[in-house]
Amino acid sequence: MNFDTIKLTEDEFQLTTYKKMSIAVERGLGSWIWTSEGDKYLDLYGGHAVCGTGHSHPHVVSAIKDQAEKVLFYSNLVYSDIRGRVAEKLVSVAPEGLSKAFFCNSGTEANENAMRIARMATGREKIVSFSGGFHGRTADAISATFLGNYRQIGKPNVPGHVEVEFGNIESVLTIADSNTAAIIIEPIQSMAGVREASPDFFVTLRELCDERGIALIFDEVQTGVGRTGNWFFAGSELAGSVVPDIVTLAKSLGSGVPVGACLVSESASSYIKQNDLGTTFGGGMLAMAAVLATLEAIEDDDMVANAGAIEEHLREQIAGIPGVVAVHGKGCLLGIEFEQNCSDVHANLLSKKVITGTSSNPKVLRLLPPLCVKREEIDILIEGLTAI
Ligand SMILES: Cc1ncc(COP(=O)(O)O)c(C=O)c1O
Repeated sequence: MNFDTIKLTEDEFQLTTYKKMSIAVERGLGSWIWTSEGDKYLDLYGGHAVCGTGHSHPHVVSAIKDQAEKVLFYSNLVYSDIRGRVAEKLVSVAPEGLSKAFFCNSGTEANENAMRIARMATGREKIVSFSGGFHGRTADAISATFLGNYRQIGKPNVPGHVEVEFGNIESVLTIADSNTAAIIIEPIQSMAGVREASPDFFVTLRELCDERGIALIFDEVQTGVGRTGNWFFAGSELAGSVVPDIVTLAKSLGSGVPVGACLVSESASSYIKQNDLGTTFGGGMLAMAAVLATLEAIEDDDMVANAGAIEEHLREQIAGIPGVVAVHGKGCLLGIEFEQNCSDVHANLLSKKVITGTSSNPKVLRLLPPLCVKREEIDILIEGLTAI
């Protein structure tokens, strides 16, 4: 079917909530997608940060097919071999201390559950979060999202959410008090324009949380699962080795099969009783097969190391390109900052069949490529930028 017909049907029968590129995707492989018109695009936006293992990684595809033929789904009313193996594998690659997993379906849901766990563990209600962080669109998560007009969209907001300044520990010290259940932080603020804080900031946050009995939550929906050149931001050098009480995951966790998770410390999880948390689809077999194969593919293809090497390569190659003032971020979560608004650069690259992302900072172009992206593919971006 041609693009115009596909577009007409979607536009007629779907709510018009998304701003879309004028392409229809038919298939994908690695860092590439093919459209209804037979055009091939380099996807440096990774299907919206989801395709960490690349599009349709053969190992993930075959695991999903095999699982589908055995059993698609049964809920947490029963035990499942694959669910147990995924939880064990996730805990084994997570920093020490995060010893229990809870499975759900999306990033926003992982954050809702993380905040609930924190409230249950502390008996408190207040949640502190950072200007510029994005945590999702359900009630509690959007109330913790002090970015653009998200809180306005989410009215009425859940009470007890308070904003502090990202990277400014003084601001946190005055607001996060003994009534605070959790501090939730997106460790690299992707949508805000790939903003970073120093490792010292995370170390002081951890100390503050320990002193005041506050749960620390890292929203690793984007930074997790290898993206920064570390399995997780938590516990890495980027965080000054800090391990939070809860890490939330989604996006690339299932290579495109919807799945989210909370990784929880032994201590925080000890407050959770039967029926405190739950969701029908959480931990379903098809999603679990996708997660296990995703983690295996990342390991087998050495993608965590590749993400770090790709950052290095991009930083080297981009030096000297006119108009570029800085590169922010880590691994395969990068923000290229331009002197001026970069919406033309984004459009120009798209016309050259290179997909990149924008951000809420009009000067920052975002890259969220698959963790298996190759140096030669980054060079195509560099050529594109040079020719603009
Ligand atoms: C850091 C972060 N947290 C949470 C979310 C919400 O995830 P989801 O769209 O799966 O609900 C997103 C989505 O963009 C995100 O980037």
